[in-house]
Parts: sequence; C-alpha cells; structure tokens
Amino acid sequence: MKKILVTGGAGYIGSHTVVELIEAGYEPVIVDNFNNSEERALAGIESIVGKRVSCYRIDCTDAAAMRDVFQKEPDLAGVIHFAAYKAVGESVEKPLNYYHNNVGSLVVLLQVMSEFNVTKLVFSSSCTVYGIPEQLPVTEQTPVQKANSPYGNTKKICEEILTDVAASGSAISSIALRYFNPIGAHASAKIGELPLGIPSNLVPFITQTAIGMREQVTIFGNDYDTPDGTCVRDYLHVVDLAKAHVMAIDRLLTGAGEALEFYNVGTGKGVTVLEAVQAFERATGVKLNYKIGPRRAGDVPKIFADVTKVETVLGYKTTKTLEEAMKSAWDWQVSLQESK
Ligand code: NAD
Ligand code: WQD
Repeated sequence: MKKILVTGGAGYIGSHTVVELIEAGYEPVIVDNFNNSEERALAGIESIVGKRVSCYRIDCTDAAAMRDVFQKEPDLAGVIHFAAYKAVGESVEKPLNYYHNNVGSLVVLLQVMSEFNVTKLVFSSSCTVYGIPEQLPVTEQTPVQKANSPYGNTKKICEEILTDVAASGSAISSIALRYFNPIGAHASAKIGELPLGIPSNLVPFITQTAIGMREQVTIFGNDYDTPDGTCVRDYLHVVDLAKAHVMAIDRLLTGAGEALEFYNVGTGKGVTVLEAVQAFERATGVKLNYKIGPRRAGDVPKIFADVTKVETVLGYKTTKTLEEAMKSAWDWQVSLQESK
C-alpha cells in the first residue's frame, strides 16, 4: 500500500481526504499539531474506515520533528499538505503568525522532502488567489491578484514558492488545488467542520443558528450585481473535494504532467447566499432565521470556477448536490449537539 503523509490530516478537509485515501487503497499517515482540530476527528476517521490511522502530533514548522517523521516513515510515496491557519480576519490581526505557519511549514516541508527524496506534493491553495476576478468563471489562467488579506497572501506566496522550486529543476513535482468553497460533512456524520468560536463561514453559521446556538444569520449585503443581489460562490461538497486529492496523488504517482500544475476545484456553478439558504431549508426542512445586513468588508461579490481543466486532465467531476452538502452539514451539526 502506498503511504501518503497528510499534514493537517485531522482538520476539516484533511480528515475527509484521509478517509478517501484509505478507501482508494492508500495508507495515510497524519501529521497534525491539533491547533485547529480535535482528537475526535481521529476517532471519527477510524470509526468510518474500521482501522487505526497513524498520527504524529507535531508542528510542521519544526524541521527536526518533521525529519524525525520522515525517518520513521522511510517509504512515503507523497505528501498532501493541508496544515495552515485559515481565518481571514485573524490573519489581518496576526499576520506574522500566518506567514510563519503557512509559508514556514511549506518551506520546511519542501526542504525535508528534498532531503528524503520524497518528490510528490499536493498543496492546498484557494480561489482567494484570484482576488476580485474581472471575468467569470475563473480559469487557471485568470490572473492571480494582490491578495486582500495576509491569509490570502500566504496562499499566493506558497504558489510562488512552488513555482520557483519547479523552475529550479528540483525533483519535486507538485499539484496545487485551488479550492472554491468546501461545505458539508461525511455522510456518516462522524467527521465534519469544527469551527472554533463564532464561525465566519456561511454554512457553519447557518447550521449553528438552525440548532439554536446563534440567534440569526445575517446575509452580508443584497445590493451586489448578482441575480438576487447577494454574493455568488461555488460551494462544493467536502467529500467531492477530498476525492480531488486522491486523483491528484494518482496523477503525480503515474509521473504524468508537469513539474507544477494548478487546478480549480469547484462545481463550476455560482450560487447566491440566498440560494444557499434556500437549499439548506429545502434539504433539512428547517426554517432558518435570517436577515439582510450590510456588506462585509473585503467580500468578493462573485466568483465561481471554470472546471474544464480539472475535468479533462484529472478526469474529476463533483457528484454531490448543494442540497446533499447542506443536509450532511446539518446531520453533522445535530450529531455534535447529541454528543455534548
Ligand atoms: P482546518 O483548520 O480544519 O485544518 C488544518 C489542520 O492543520 C488543522 O487540523 C490544524 O490543527 C493543522 N495545522 C495547522 N497548522 C499546523 C502546523 N504548523 N503543524 C501541524 N498541523 C497544523 O482547515 P481546512 O478547512 O481543513 O483547510 C485545510 C487547508 O485548505 C488549509 O491549507 C486551508 O488554507 C486550505 N483551504 C481551505 C478552505 C476552506 O474553506 N476550508 C478553502 C481554500 C483553501
Ligand atoms: C460565503 C458567502 C459571505 C457568513 C472564505 C475565505 C476564503 C476561502 C473560503 C480559504 C459570502 C456570505 C457569510 C455570514 C453571509 N477560504 N456570508 N453571512 O467569503 O467565500 O471565503 O472562505 O481559502 O479565503 O475568505 O466564504 O463562507 O465566509 O462566505 O452572508 O454570516 O456567505 O458574504 O458571500 P468566502 P464564507
């Protein structure tokens, strides 16, 4: 079985990817410092797949600790690097933490991979690199723009680092997946998103409101140039997103492709905030308490992916509907409540 190191494997997208890797016949090895995740994610993964999963509780910015992992796991076929901080607002207040963690962990990882001759890397990038795009849908050729937060800038810088490494003739080949908006949870409701504090993302805010933890959802603005005035995003089911990582690793291991490739991972469909709310209500039968409020500073009015490249080159296609994603997010929220 091919062994894949998964940094941030106890996190939201990482935990779902670990499950998909196992189901595809890989042996994932998790590295996570549990800074933004909980032990229960590991228990959830193990309960879904019915076996133990190796996990090292270390910080990826710690080069000595990372070397130790590579020494103990000499047969790694590749790495999927999720570990990063991701809170946009916090990154504005604590930019150095974000540069240290997100950029620092990638640099350490690339150094250690080179030392141990591990040459395949999948990197978590984001549609945030497109800023406010001039043309929609965005393709991988759409210009990357100046980021509007330190978080976004770390993704842009990490992509530049991968570009420079590829140009240097390094043996490492990488795929950077630019995720659009992952939502939902595993169908088992044993793993899902675990936001700390008040969620800033839409779907956890919706599910927490629907279950009574929050009073009301505020929709941030309805005066944008969109079909109903609310912002447009490309929401994809996290299990669909997880599967894209398996396909990216498959491609890297066949040796196909270039030293560095970028792929948009989304559904290709733009959905407004109001449509997302309606999909939640339809999928769950729960009425949501929401109001229209002012715009949120820094919001991108409208963005969704052109998925031609990921579909034609990787052979990838999302299969789950927005309603399925909303229902799974709700089932996860209910299971969290029940486990309290
Ligand atoms: P998450 O916070 O749930 O998962 C990240 C995991 O990495 C957590 O378990 C955290 O404890 C761990 N981690 C962070 N820094 C670490 C370090 N230095 N050493 C070891 N472990 C560390 O986040 P997520 O939503 O699963 O995101 C995964 C990746 O995808 C991140 O790189 C994020 O920037 C990127 N991304 C996420 C989204 C999104 O909407 N969730 C969108 C685009 C890109
Ligand atoms: C979605 C839509 C809000 C909350 C963020 C990061 C981005 C990327 C994904 C990682 C927007 C609206 C939200 C609420 C609302 N992450 N909304 N009321 O803004 O696309 O992006 O997560 O790379 O970098 O910035 O996601 O879930 O915050 O918002 O009306 O209480 O929902 O205005 O239109 P976003 P989101």
